[in-house]
Amino acid sequence: MDNIIEVNHPLLKNLVTKLRDIHTKPYDFRKYLSEIGRILLVEALKNEKLNKKEIEIWIGKGEFPVLEENKYVFIPILRAGLPMLDGVQEMIPDSSTGFLALKRNEETLESVLYYDRVPPLDGKIAIILDPMVATGGSLDYAIRVIKGKNPEKIISLNVIGAPEGLKRINKNHPDVTVYIAQIDERLNDNGYIIPGIGDTGDRAFNTE
Ligand code: PRP
Ligand code: URA
Repeated sequence: MDNIIEVNHPLLKNLVTKLRDIHTKPYDFRKYLSEIGRILLVEALKNEKLNKKEIEIWIGKGEFPVLEENKYVFIPILRAGLPMLDGVQEMIPDSSTGFLALKRNEETLESVLYYDRVPPLDGKIAIILDPMVATGGSLDYAIRVIKGKNPEKIISLNVIGAPEGLKRINKNHPDVTVYIAQIDERLNDNGYIIPGIGDTGDRAFNTE
């Protein structure tokens, strides 16, 4: 699965363990998701091309490397992707943000789209934010919607994935690179990741 990159950094593994801990409170849970998003972004953009820009520094004018920040569009998948947004926006302040909302039907495990405020993406790099890839249905759906908006490239930042869902993304979207903090063992009969972190949206936003 060439396009699925599990990022093996000790800081990430440490944060994932904090998420797993059932005693972690919603405020901290959201903060850890944000920190993981930031670390994944650093890894995902490590080979990005830089432009040259002339600026004034203390010894006069000079050309220095800059990122074309307004090429990047973050797309958190509501709800659970929302806490991953703050951290990455701080890293690329001149990025844009679009929103997609999907909800799994917990009986059929099919994803339903209920909100799309993603702008046209011509010439842009779309960066999806969603903590969980379980059956992969939500990410598969999100990628299809985003592809319809014609981005130059799509990257996905995810926290925990099941092999089943990641295989689906690898098969259906080999052109999308997924950076993920942890690949777990399997799905249970209800489509939850084992060992996983439980229901991420509920834990992040203190709902049942
Ligand atoms: C969660 C999660 C993913 C999806 C993953 O969202 O944030 O979007 O499940 O499951 P899948 O890979 O089987 O599609 P959920 O549908 O629970 O909605 P929520 O974020 O609003 O809680
Ligand atoms: N959604 C979650 O929040 N957790 C899972 O384990 C699977 C889907």
